[in-house]
Amino acid sequence: MSSTPRPLVAGNWKMNGLSASISEIETIAQHYDAGLRAKVELAICPPATLLSRAAPIVAGAEIRLGGQDCHAKANGAHTGDISAEMLADAGAAYVIVGHSERRCDHGESDALVRAKAEAGLRAGLAPIVCVGETRAERDAGRASEIVERQLDGSLPQDVAPERLVVAYEPVWAIGTGLTPTLQDVAQMHAAIRARLVTLFGAGAGATRILYGGSVKPANAGELLRIANVDGALIGGASLTAKDFLAIAEIYR
Ligand code: PGA
Repeated sequence: MSSTPRPLVAGNWKMNGLSASISEIETIAQHYDAGLRAKVELAICPPATLLSRAAPIVAGAEIRLGGQDCHAKANGAHTGDISAEMLADAGAAYVIVGHSERRCDHGESDALVRAKAEAGLRAGLAPIVCVGETRAERDAGRASEIVERQLDGSLPQDVAPERLVVAYEPVWAIGTGLTPTLQDVAQMHAAIRARLVTLFGAGAGATRILYGGSVKPANAGELLRIANVDGALIGGASLTAKDFLAIAEIYR
């Protein structure tokens, strides 16, 4: 397997953030010094309405921006949707696809998630493809099987492994304050890595596998030190610069 990639800490603001929230991005940019940059990459996925406002602020700080979803098509009659090309044009480098809130609230299938991931690549964005089991699936002992099926169905088929990011986010851990045991995280991330190697070959060591679901400054230290955890996708705790930076600082 190739050398371990620089970890990625990505903030998913979801449907939160108005103009005033730009100050949080300014604070993050001010504190992201060369020492921290060398250890960890930061990305912020604000609502699409703030992307072009955030772009000039993060440019000098080398913080990446991301969209939270995209349409599979580049343009056309799709009222209310945003294409990957539009996200890239507004300053994004990443796009989250297949988040469980999209899979559940909008009925997104693995095939659609794959099409969106491929749209991201087409537009020059690195897709962050989310997978994760529900509580019922974990209780039934089906977590690994579900995640493997999501990986097989949702990952883009033709991708350089270093351009791909996978986020393991157990649905029951998102926004609940609950997290899996460290052993369960280790086991799932090892299984995801093995699946990536099967799909993409030895170069799959370059794909970052993020953990997501109730990551906070208080638990980030132990979660981020687990083997095959190459960073985090953070919802609630990414909304304030203070908590987001405290999580990133684990890597310093
Ligand atoms: P959370 O969300 O950190 O608020 O649990 C994570 C996510 O949904 O990406």
